[in-house]
This record gives sequence, C-alpha cells and structure tokens, in this order.
Amino acid sequence: MSLADKIVIGTWPLSGDFGARSLSEIEKSLAKAFDAGIRTFDTAPNYGLGFAESALGMVFAGESDVRIFTKCGNVPFVGKDFSPDAIEASIGQSLKRLKRDSIEGVFLHNPRDEVPDFEPAIERLEAIKADGTVRMIGLSGAKGYDYSRVPDGRLDMFQQDANLLYLKEANGARPKFKTFFARSPLATGMLSGRLSESSVFPPDDHRSGWLKGERLASLVARVEAIKSVLPAGVSVPSAARRLLLHHPAIDYVICGVGRPDHLDGLIEDLSSGPLPESVVEALVSLHDRDFDRPEEESGLGY
Ligand SMILES: NC(=O)c1ccc[n+]([C@@H]2O[C@H](COP(=O)([O-])OP(=O)(O)OC[C@H]3O[C@@H](n4cnc5c(N)ncnc54)[C@H](OP(=O)(O)O)[C@@H]3O)[C@@H](O)[C@H]2O)c1
Repeated sequence: MSLADKIVIGTWPLSGDFGARSLSEIEKSLAKAFDAGIRTFDTAPNYGLGFAESALGMVFAGESDVRIFTKCGNVPFVGKDFSPDAIEASIGQSLKRLKRDSIEGVFLHNPRDEVPDFEPAIERLEAIKADGTVRMIGLSGAKGYDYSRVPDGRLDMFQQDANLLYLKEANGARPKFKTFFARSPLATGMLSGRLSESSVFPPDDHRSGWLKGERLASLVARVEAIKSVLPAGVSVPSAARRLLLHHPAIDYVICGVGRPDHLDGLIEDLSSGPLPESVVEALVSLHDRDFDRPEEESGLGY
C-alpha cells in the first residue's frame, strides 16, 4: 500500500459549510487529488445538505478507480435517525447523489445516546454489505464518546478524531474494529499554522460560531507550543499530517480539502518521509502535558 493510498480526501470543506465554493473550485480540487494518485474520498449526506455527495457524483460519475466512503443515520433536513429503515433509505439516497450502484463503505454518523441498542442498526448494515451495496461497514464516532456498547468484530472500520491536539483515541480501534480512519489532521483548520488570537471566520463558515474568544486564544497558544518543537523548515500542517501518515495504528488519514491549494502541502508530504523520532516524542509529550496550559484552560481544548 503506497502512502497516497493511505490518504482519504475529506469533502466536508467542499460542501459550503466552511463558506461557499464554486463548482469549478470543487472540480479542480477533486481532479487535482485524483491526478496526484489519491483515490479515496470521505463524505456524508449532511455535508452541505447533500451537496458534497452530489459534487462527488458530478466529478466522478463513471470513474471506477475511486473509493467512496459515506455515512448514514444523520439525514439532511431531518436529523438523526439510526433505525434500520432510515439507514437503508439514507444509503439509497446517497447512492443516487453519488451516481453509483455501490460504494466502498458506509459509517454510522456520530451515534450517541439516541442509539440504545446497536444490534438492529448493525444487522441491517450487515445485510446491505452482504448484498454488495457497500464493501465495508463502520462507525464514525463522536469525539470522546464511549463506544464500549458496540459489539466487537462486527463493524469493519472506525473513524475518529486524531491529530496533534487530540491523540487520545489514535490507538483505540482494534480489536473492536479492523480498520482505523484518523480524521481531521489539521483539527478542522486549527493546525493550519495561520490562526492568531484575532482571526475571524466569515459568517458562512461554521467555525465562526465556535472558534473564537478564549477557545481560539488557548488553541493558538497550543499551536505556538507545537511550533516551538518543530525543526526549521517543517510547518505545523506538514508535521500534523506526517505524524499520522506514519503512525503504526492508523490505516487511513482523512484530510479535509476545501480548495485546490490545500492539496499542495499534502502532496509534498508523500515524499517527505516520517518526522524524526525525537520530534514525534516531543509532540506527543506536549500533547500529554496538555501543552502546559493553565488548569483553567483545560476545557478550552480542541
Ligand atoms: N463525525 C464525523 O463523521 C466527522 C467529523 C469531522 C470530520 N469528518 C471527516 O473528516 C474530514 C477531515 O476533517 P476536516 O475537514 O476538519 O479536515 P482537516 O484536515 O483537519 O482540516 C481541514 C481544514 O484545514 C485547512 N487546510 C487544509 N489544507 C491546508 C493546508 N495545506 N495548509 C493549511 N491549512 C489547510 C482548511 O481550512 P481553512 O479554511 O482554514 O484554510 C481546511 O478546511 C472531513 O472533511 C470529513 O470528511 C467526519
């Protein structure tokens, strides 16, 4: 498996939820990833209320050499519904938007307490997998939620946050799940290396609602601490991605791309090799010490 095979393009930033994107920008972003040898894409029905799936359908209709993963149980305009019939209907609607008869995989999307028993949902997913509509079934977890109620070995894959600001679950997939997808290597932009305490997101970017004030200031201080342990010439985004790309417990890294230029650093990382071991140790140690932030800031993390 090449390093490009380990990268999954996350399509949430293309959906409009991070601000409007033109069809030409979307087309160029997806084509640039494909031309760089990246074949795997992650999406969901509710990214842009179906828009991200439709965009993938538009760009890759008829292209057999792509692997698409979507989610179910969180339906545009409706909300969460993990009942077996809703799951099946959601997958059917996704296939229509994606213009495909079958896809690589489907994740339950952020189930929490609204799923008292996972058995009915998993049984239906197993039937959908058995008929060939999807090749793999899994769970995309809500950060920090305890999934010990999910039966072992029934779901193929687990998707969860794992990045320099939040490594608590980077080793957490096996043996319950066979394959681990680490998502949001740049912590949804917090590790872009460009943010300062005075950064302001446009109103149509979902981050305007929560990445501000004390939280933003505390996260910027954490990123400054990360910068202080990086060797000259290694940027925060590159370090963030390379740590995950070479992590032994991580099978795939889902990198959010919202514009063609977001792919430049990512493509460069494919030939940059792993970070030096001493840098990895320093980064993990910083994370484990909560970036030496004062105790009153501990709730302001990512
Ligand atoms: N519960 C779930 O199932 C769930 C939750 C979250 C994410 N996901 C999936 O995981 C994917 C990854 O998460 P994410 O989209 O938050 O990804 P991410 O890689 O953590 O962050 C992407 C953001 O980082 C910035 N960025 C991207 N490339 C950059 C670069 N080269 N240099 C500097 N900044 C860069 C962009 O924001 P700027 O606008 O700041 O440039 C971009 O929108 C999603 O797209 C989605 O597919 C799933």
